[in-house]
Amino acid sequence: MEFNALVVDKDEEKNITSSQVKKIDVSQLPEGDVLVNVEFSNVNYKDGLCIGPGAGLVKTYPHVPGIDFAGEVESSQSDLYKKGDKVILTGWRVGEVVWGGYSQKARVKASQLVKMPQGMSSKEAMSMGTAGFSAMLAIMRLEELGMKKENGEVLVTGATGGVGSVAVVILSNLGYEVAAVTGKKSSKDYLLSLGAKKLVDRSELHEVIKRPLESAAWGACVDTVGGDTLSRLLGQLKYGASVAVVGNAGGNNISASAIPFMLRGINMLGIDSAMQPFENRVKIWDRLNKDFPKKFFEPITKVISLSDLPNIGKDILEGKIKGRVIVDVNI
Ligand SMILES: NC(=O)c1ccc[n+]([C@@H]2O[C@H](COP(=O)([O-])OP(=O)(O)OC[C@H]3O[C@@H](n4cnc5c(N)ncnc54)[C@H](OP(=O)(O)O)[C@@H]3O)[C@@H](O)[C@H]2O)c1
Repeated sequence: MEFNALVVDKDEEKNITSSQVKKIDVSQLPEGDVLVNVEFSNVNYKDGLCIGPGAGLVKTYPHVPGIDFAGEVESSQSDLYKKGDKVILTGWRVGEVVWGGYSQKARVKASQLVKMPQGMSSKEAMSMGTAGFSAMLAIMRLEELGMKKENGEVLVTGATGGVGSVAVVILSNLGYEVAAVTGKKSSKDYLLSLGAKKLVDRSELHEVIKRPLESAAWGACVDTVGGDTLSRLLGQLKYGASVAVVGNAGGNNISASAIPFMLRGINMLGIDSAMQPFENRVKIWDRLNKDFPKKFFEPITKVISLSDLPNIGKDILEGKIKGRVIVDVNI
């Protein structure tokens, strides 16, 4: 039985990759106990890497990327799922080391799936995907560490990106005053419409300064940028505040002083969405269902087809994407 998928192949001699929509057969899919008719996938930063040269994430070619998908179970050898169940997959290195969601069918392990929350559609789930899941995980970790509205503004970096946009919406909806950091001057209206109260120009946080402490400004932070931005904002966190370290869109390396940790008791929280245990996944999706208002799905989302993916993959790596790009695999 043949169907469409985005297949990335590599010319080993020339060391170049290329991607195009091809017909593949169900027998080519990886091993697993649940076969899913994929309805929607989406585009995350990691997908950008996997559509291109893979940056070490893709181990073998040909490869079908797509780290997220949502759809309907076609057949299942697991007691956990039956034909017709709506399911979501994010992470577990699906789409990186095994074939993923840029395909009309996907086969995975039952333990990697979660059931679609009540009232959520596949399209809505993929407007969230790994980006929304990570934003919610970051917010839940900040809550555990005592984030409170009365502690003051919450900073979100890379605010127009996928993780950033969802974080701005959820935090604003929960009643936090959100300060959104962006490098896209033209996106002011977009961020204000998502609920941000204040915009901070990216360049203000990029500048490296030698002083370990600046005036204490932020009650918490969701950071998707890393690098110099993260180094700088550590010295701007209020007493006892935490930063959830989600991303590295601006770099991996940070030069941190121990002073804000010792004198202000700040915390850096590591966020990993890919390997979250099943129980946490269910809680995170329930919170997304509850705390992300449905009216924001449309404004943050752009829909594309499988054949649009090669170009969008480049754009996300260059920080050009605003909000979430979702992939309707059947158009
Ligand atoms: N830990 C996890 O489990 C997890 C899960 C998902 C994503 N991530 C990571 O989180 C980051 C964001 O992912 P995403 O899907 O939201 O990507 P995205 O949609 O591309 O968003 C990244 C945003 O960061 C800003 N940015 C880009 N390049 C920058 C630079 N050089 N310096 C400063 N800011 C820059 C841009 O926003 P502005 O123009 O508004 O500044 C961009 O839109 C990525 O590094 C991704 O790998 C991690």
